[in-house]
Amino acid sequence: MDAYACIKGSLKAGYMNSGYPVAGVYQEWKSFNTQPYVSDTHGGRYVNNYVNGTGRKAYGKYENVGAMPQGSAIAKDSFAIKGNGQVVAGPLFVMEKMPPGWNPESGDWRYTLMMPNGNVVGKTRGIGAKNVGFCIDCHMPLGEDQDSLLFLPDALRK
Ligand code: HEC
Repeated sequence: MDAYACIKGSLKAGYMNSGYPVAGVYQEWKSFNTQPYVSDTHGGRYVNNYVNGTGRKAYGKYENVGAMPQGSAIAKDSFAIKGNGQVVAGPLFVMEKMPPGWNPESGDWRYTLMMPNGNVVGKTRGIGAKNVGFCIDCHMPLGEDQDSLLFLPDALRK
């Protein structure tokens, strides 16, 4: 998608202001969607799903994932296209699988929400943790048998 190609670099640059290591590397991870798609549950913006080396094999099993290995990380960047065609950066959504027992309330996932300029809005068990409580509220119950994961529409899977 041309819009994504055009904003990809600046998305990464903005997220990197956070100093959060994922920001600088996620675009090199395996992407699981054939094209950006609108996610109503993540602000109605276009999103992409990237999974790191530790998690990609399990994630690719989709609904049969079972449990993701510790150290798995999933990053979802986002952008919007305005009526006038302008492409606007959106937040970065990250899930990282922590050691067993780290935080049972989130299925041992650390959720992070970051603005396009790199400001971290919240992180499980870290700064602004309460601001990512709504991520857990939606992911945990819906993804009960698949390690809190919700994947992506069938037609867009690689
Ligand atoms: C109302 C429900 C809902 C909320 C709230 C929500 N998500 Fe999601 N999330 C989903 C759904 C559904 C998918 C898969 C489909 C899609 O991408 O839209 C998903 C996919 C993801 C993925 C890709 C991994 C996967 O599950 O396959 C990440 C990473 C993610 N969300 C992070 C977050 C973070 C971080 C927050 C909070 C800032 C959040 N989500 C809030 C429903 C939600």
